[in-house]
Amino acid sequence: MSLHDLAAAGLRRLDPERAHGLAIRALEAGLGPKAPADDPILATALAGLSLPNCVGLAAGFDKDARAFGPMLRAGFGFVECGTVTPLPQAGNPKPRMFRLPQDRAVINRLGFNNQGLEPFAARLAAGRPGVVGANIGANKEAADRIGDYVTGLRRLWGRASYFTLNVSSPNTPGLRALQTRAALDELLGRVAEACDALPPAGRAPLFLKIAPDLQAGEVEAIVEAAVAHGLSGLVVSNTTVSRPPLESPARGEAGGLSGAPLFDLSTRVLAEAAAAAGGRLALIGVGGVSSGAQAYAKLRAGACAVQLYSALAYEGPGLVVRIKRELAARLRADGFGGAGEAVGAK
Ligand code: FNR
Repeated sequence: MSLHDLAAAGLRRLDPERAHGLAIRALEAGLGPKAPADDPILATALAGLSLPNCVGLAAGFDKDARAFGPMLRAGFGFVECGTVTPLPQAGNPKPRMFRLPQDRAVINRLGFNNQGLEPFAARLAAGRPGVVGANIGANKEAADRIGDYVTGLRRLWGRASYFTLNVSSPNTPGLRALQTRAALDELLGRVAEACDALPPAGRAPLFLKIAPDLQAGEVEAIVEAAVAHGLSGLVVSNTTVSRPPLESPARGEAGGLSGAPLFDLSTRVLAEAAAAAGGRLALIGVGGVSSGAQAYAKLRAGACAVQLYSALAYEGPGLVVRIKRELAARLRADGFGGAGEAVGAK
């Protein structure tokens, strides 16, 4: 176990939100690990972006774009910052983040706590030492929610490697209703109009992040809307409001569930999206990844790249290096020359 993993084990004894705050500050202070160079077999392309490896950090860890440099250095192939909303927002009352250790899971109902667009934009403008995406959302009290996404895009135009429209957080009441076809047509139509009016040099791939809790037919409808409006791809998935059988004392808490119990559900929705998209969209697979085998399963279900967050809370920052080592071994064992060759492989 590395010193960094030992420090992470110490943080696990604290309240999870406090531990997270300390981890971000330690990373800002330069105390994060430095991963060895990537195995070239892990390099891949994501909607035209070149990733040094296909294992990314999911949104929510670095909400305010304070630690993307250290997390790239720790070995992630890309980092998605946010969710950022136009105005700073305190989020829901504490406690609002819970560990479920027996289940290797997390429940959160943070509610988009973040410092708002201004500091986020300034930090991204100071430079990106790799692929850094911006996950954008709407303020809870916004009169025009769709307008908030447009505001986010405009403010961060030219400053992010890609954008993700987050319409799937369960912790902003009504937000997930933006996933219906009619609402998506309005959102994506206004977003496309805004993008067309901005300087072409700032253009970056645009993703939509969806929930795993969709009814039959909804995934297909989302895929068709995404293709019709020219999106690059989907991030599948956010946390779930469903509750598979859980053991931990905090299992009754309200909020979005992530980590191990989300793996099967999110991978199933990913495979559905891949089948519906038939190669027309780039997919990022996220939900319950804590091993190379699980990252590999997401690739084979149709993901060009994977992301993770919750497993970090249990395993520490050395996890990403372990996952990459295992994934590279699996790709080689199955005769693939690169991660891209395994995408959607039956
Ligand atoms: C998240 N997630 C998240 N997603 C998002 O799009 N915007 C956000 O602000 C957040 N915030 C957030 C906070 C916390 C504490 C957690 C645990 C998760 C969801 C995250 O990006 C991911 O989609 C899910 O957590 C599933 O992946 P894991 O955690 O199972 O690897």
